[in-house]
Amino acid sequence: MSELLEASRAMKKFYIETFGCQMNAHDSEKVVGTLVRQGYTQVDSPEQADLIFYNTCSIRDKAEQKVFSRLQQFKRDAGKGKVFAVLGCVAQQEGERIFERAPHVSLVAGSASYTKLPEMLVQLEAGNRRVTGLSLDTTETFDTPFTRRDNPHRAYITIIEGCDKSCAYCVVPFTRGPERSRTSESVMREARTLAEAGYSEVQLLGQNVNSYRDPSPAGWDFSQLLAGTGKIDGIRRVRFTTSHPRDFVKNIVDAIDACPALCNHVHLPVQSGSDAVLSRMQRLYSRDQYIRRIEWIKNSKRDIAITTDIIVGFPGESEADFNQTLRLAEEVEYDSMFIFKYSKRPNTSALQYEDHIPEEEKTRRLMVLQERQRTIQIRRNASYIGRTEEVLVEGYNLATDQWIGRTSQNKTLNFSDSTLPAPSNDNTLVGQYSDVLITRAGPNSLAGERSSPEAASLAVS
Ligand code: SAH
Ligand code: SF4
Ligand code: F3S
Repeated sequence: MSELLEASRAMKKFYIETFGCQMNAHDSEKVVGTLVRQGYTQVDSPEQADLIFYNTCSIRDKAEQKVFSRLQQFKRDAGKGKVFAVLGCVAQQEGERIFERAPHVSLVAGSASYTKLPEMLVQLEAGNRRVTGLSLDTTETFDTPFTRRDNPHRAYITIIEGCDKSCAYCVVPFTRGPERSRTSESVMREARTLAEAGYSEVQLLGQNVNSYRDPSPAGWDFSQLLAGTGKIDGIRRVRFTTSHPRDFVKNIVDAIDACPALCNHVHLPVQSGSDAVLSRMQRLYSRDQYIRRIEWIKNSKRDIAITTDIIVGFPGESEADFNQTLRLAEEVEYDSMFIFKYSKRPNTSALQYEDHIPEEEKTRRLMVLQERQRTIQIRRNASYIGRTEEVLVEGYNLATDQWIGRTSQNKTLNFSDSTLPAPSNDNTLVGQYSDVLITRAGPNSLAGERSSPEAASLAVS
């Protein structure tokens, strides 16, 4: 890079806003690292920036609309020399159509093309107003040593990108391309580097982590990768998301049983409790097969929390189908649930179904399920009262005078500590692990007292 170009970039300020899932959040960390490496400086508001990036999500229609309303909002600024770039899933889905819908956009790039970001930036610098990176046929993953992580204690690690499933409602296979696994060596190297840098929790990411297949001769499967990262010195917690039930095998539970660093939490999206709906969704498992996997998890000697995703109002979902979902929620007793109203997405096979559910009915089902799940969560969380759980301390809430921690089950546990003065810069628990005696429970969180060893033994007796 010429010195002149580098000097001009050092003055270039960029702003990035991220929508969507953890994969996108982590992609943005990599994009930021790459941009900083290229000599750009990150700023906190679009007003201060020369370059504005939106890393977009297309999972539901509302998510897609958000980016266009953002672009509309700042349209006038394009005339003042600001450059707009659209990244992520909407970029991949809409491609060059984005230039028609928002002519002030200069760069459109999907996540499978981020390895080419430095070249695309050179083109932008050269004044090119229509730069695209839309190839999905790349076999590479976006591995970069220049990741700028947002959290100093907990780090994401991508292990697999893309998705080879074809769930009838889902855009992801069209926006993120085919599955590509990283080598186990590369994942382990990143995890070790993170541990050395002081990160104690890692979260292994992929649209479907269970179909991880090490492309190197070592040939590790996902449970071997879990066991490998869980054994690294300094890594106290390993989480993973998302698991597809079809590929969820029992040796994942065996790995959790065998390795204390693997967290007590499995997110296993079921989508529906009705076999008829599961089949039309092309989810590739039946309700019974799903329940078998839940039994493996519940039979573990560890106390593993189970969470899920549900779509209500999928085309053709009858009242009886929906009741099956309510019954499944009762049967599994989920620790938490994300509930979504079905949203039509471009290119997906569910578009061919005609019997769409009216919006008001979707809303009704969402509320009924939410209410049912709330009762389940109150019951589940109440069962923790009297127990002592280890938390990773994430923050401090001045308003309530309480620390905020997270248990291995991924539950928020707010706690007080009467032995500590109010926090200051040199007296902080953030990033540390602490044992907390749970004394109260609500539907969405637990509360307790930081426990002394005596208190902990009391709670056990
Ligand atoms: N790979 C993950 C899902 C990622 S998308 C998996 O297979 O479990 C996250 C969640 O968004 C999905 O689990 C699903 O519940 C929801 N979702 C995906 N497409 C949707 C759509 N068209 N309408 C409503 N919700 C959707
Ligand atoms: Fe979408 Fe299904 Fe792939 Fe998950 S497994 S990303 S829901 S296509
Ligand atoms: Fe959204 Fe793309 Fe993630 S569609 S949920 S950002 S994979």
